Amino acid sequence: MLTKIKETTEFIKKSIDFNADLAIILGTGLGGLVDEIDITHKIEYKDIPNFPLSTVQGHKGVLIFGKIAGKNIIAMQGRFHFYEGYSMQEITLPVRVLKMLGIKTLIVSNASGGMNPDFKVGDLMIINDHINLFGTSPLIGPNFEELGPRFPDMSQAYDKELINRALTIGKQENIDLKIGVYAGVTGPTFETPAEYNYIRSTGADAVGMSTVPEVIVARHMGLTCFAISVITDSGVPGEIVEISHEEVQEVAAIAGPKMALLIKKFVEII
Ligand code: HPA
Repeated sequence: MLTKIKETTEFIKKSIDFNADLAIILGTGLGGLVDEIDITHKIEYKDIPNFPLSTVQGHKGVLIFGKIAGKNIIAMQGRFHFYEGYSMQEITLPVRVLKMLGIKTLIVSNASGGMNPDFKVGDLMIINDHINLFGTSPLIGPNFEELGPRFPDMSQAYDKELINRALTIGKQENIDLKIGVYAGVTGPTFETPAEYNYIRSTGADAVGMSTVPEVIVARHMGLTCFAISVITDSGVPGEIVEISHEEVQEVAAIAGPKMALLIKKFVEII
């Protein structure tokens, strides 16, 4: 694995001379942020050695180098999910490569089902903690001390300072921001009502199929993390209705502009 990470990092370094402190994983809902990037260079995932390919409709596969608000950033347009059949190590390889390229901070976005009755569809939720319900971890297997410790601390996986800054921007820009715990599950099924109840009882406010593996790997390597979720459907008893991937994408697209505005302002002050 270490060899692959180094090989991929070397390939990117040879392709482009670019330094960035920040990377953004443009998950569902944040696709529109691409329009805010002053793009210097793009590499398609299919041309990057060892990068998996996104198999999900609506998820692109391009690594973007450019500027937002005058700051150099690297953006992943398209991410990988465990349910696609890749291993935990494969879906998190890009995050490890980003760290090797020199980033210090990782911003992640996703779509999720809201189980907190105070949330409504279309809300944005800042993730202040997570619960790994994948039943596995990207850190299982030999530990590479040069990447991080065998037993990484997770007492504050989502940076408090960045959360507070986002809340301040939300107030300034009149963007209503919820805050809560994200439970990560494998999918690809959406939850049964009994599963939503169960996941809610674990202490989670929202549930989705990504982010947790990436943040575990990022924290292992000491990256500062910030994550935000768009609530695309309800997992609250009595409010649960049939949903589809298309509907999730539609709601995420509607919430997209406020998410993009928030992240743009956020990058300005980071
Ligand atoms: N469950 C899991 N993943 C999701 C959901 C959900 O309700 N909505 C969007 N992604």
